[in-house]
Amino acid sequence: MTGTIAPGAWLGLLGGGQLGRMFCTAAQSLGYRVAVLDPDAESPAGTVADRHIRADFLDSAALAELSRLVSGATTEFENVPAAALEYLAQRARVTPPAACVAIAQDRIREKAFLDAHRFAVAPYAVLRDEAEAQAVAGHLIPGIVKSARFGYDGKGQARVRSASEVAAAFAAMGGQACVLEALIDLACEVSVIVARTEHGDTVSWPVAENRHRDGILDVSIVPARVTPALAGAARQIAIGIASALDYRGVLCVELFVSRDGRLLANEMAPRPHNSGHFTIDACVTSQFEQQVRVLAGLPLGDTRQHEPAVMVNLLGDVWYADPHSATVREPDWRAVLRHPQAKLHLYGKRQARRGRKMGHVTCLAPTLDEALDTARAIKRDLGIPGSGAL
Ligand SMILES: Nc1ncnc2c1ncn2[C@@H]1O[C@H](COP(=O)(O)OP(=O)(O)O)[C@@H](O)[C@H]1O
Ligand SMILES: [Mg+2]
Repeated sequence: MTGTIAPGAWLGLLGGGQLGRMFCTAAQSLGYRVAVLDPDAESPAGTVADRHIRADFLDSAALAELSRLVSGATTEFENVPAAALEYLAQRARVTPPAACVAIAQDRIREKAFLDAHRFAVAPYAVLRDEAEAQAVAGHLIPGIVKSARFGYDGKGQARVRSASEVAAAFAAMGGQACVLEALIDLACEVSVIVARTEHGDTVSWPVAENRHRDGILDVSIVPARVTPALAGAARQIAIGIASALDYRGVLCVELFVSRDGRLLANEMAPRPHNSGHFTIDACVTSQFEQQVRVLAGLPLGDTRQHEPAVMVNLLGDVWYADPHSATVREPDWRAVLRHPQAKLHLYGKRQARRGRKMGHVTCLAPTLDEALDTARAIKRDLGIPGSGAL
């Protein structure tokens, strides 16, 4: 794994979504060429990559082609098959390590790992079969049943208020392995993006405060409106998790802040994260440039934030004329761009669907209050609910 991959070389990327698209442009800015492996002909990353290998992630001919071409490879989504990363790791530098991805892919392994390393998590129980789903401890109710695998944006989750609802939720998920977590009385939710090199050098970005709507990230406010002590503690937890994992690459750690002031690790993503998009416009080094740097074995960049930032996600709903309409039209982007410190990012997805991540806007300002004002105005003008709640 030692040595560096010099600009001009090819880097490989598993997955073609918007996180991959932003990785591509960061890598290309540093002079690399990028090959994307993704089955979708119109994937956001595939359309900006220097080469798009259109195939499944376990297609052996495609993996062989990718491994002949690239000097290093990474992933933009955590559900990439571990076997694909392991195959590539025999022939090229791969970050993050497949073993770390395997932990982050599975809530049961993730919770067990965090517990074993004494990072506080919400009280939970593992549900592997009907008997376990029927014998849950009372202190976990009310709670949330979450599928161990393939959950995202609140999908694969059910809130439960009684023991019988736990059993019903477990059955409704088809009997797959789940965790039941006690519902935490949240003051807020925060996340920390960290990057760690193969030498153990580690940096973190300022803490983001995250607001969700219908289980999907709506807004990230950075710096989070928490005390400096709590922000420092959150960054230390995230750095501690990265080193306990012997992580290499960019990692996001989501944390709950409970009303009684505790920080609980919720989940981790072994890649750049939606809540870290502010780093593109607000920081010296973006999470995507850092992903390139770690993969290529280059020194880490500065994570300092120039200005307060509020990121607003743009879901496909913005393309619909009104909440009940089936009519899709291009939003009036002047509503965003009339704010000179609002930075618009669109992912080039052809089809707007409700709940689909289509882009984001980062509002910058000398003070957080001004950035929040801009975010509120943009939400209102684009018809995104919840501008009053920021
Ligand atoms: N134990 C919990 N207590 C309170 N709220 C929770 C709990 N678990 C999840 N949530 C809420 O649901 C959201 C999604 O849950 P999460 O575990 O992050 O799954 P994912 O982001 O993969 O859908 C969280 O951001 C939080 O708002
Ligand atoms: Mg989450």
